[in-house]
Amino acid sequence: MKILVLHGPNLNMLGTREPEIYGSMTLGDINTTLMELGKEFGADLKCFQSNHEGALIDALQDAKTWANGVLFNPGGYTHTSVALRDTITALGIPVVEVHLSNVYAREEFRHHSMISAVCRGKIVGFGWRSYTLALRVLAEILE
Ligand code: DQA
Repeated sequence: MKILVLHGPNLNMLGTREPEIYGSMTLGDINTTLMELGKEFGADLKCFQSNHEGALIDALQDAKTWANGVLFNPGGYTHTSVALRDTITALGIPVVEVHLSNVYAREEFRHHSMISAVCRGKIVGFGWRSYTLALRVLAEILE
């Protein structure tokens, strides 16, 4: 079972970025936690972060050639990117949308996601645990 864990803009700043909203774990901590958990399911994870929309699109397109599923936190692009939505639509493998914060308890512009309708499902609001929950459910779907 091969899974891409994809993180969008500003998630490289986790740990110091608004810790009251996003928590104090760094992106490295989250990736390490996911890789450890992945071993329990026999899942092989590749983790990638980019601040650039095109690089995220490239990573998703590439995942079509090797991955069985994707965990994706598109950061701020969640609310704006038709291009990322189009890529997910074209993928043909399950994508689980992930958010650390409860986007519905925040500014109104965060209530709408461009990608939710084309994702298999989404998990929001549990901090780093949103990722571990998403990995558990994705692994179960892929089994
Ligand atoms: C986020 C929520 C987005 O609204 C925000 O732009 C982010 C992080 C989250 O994980 O809670 O960068 O995706």
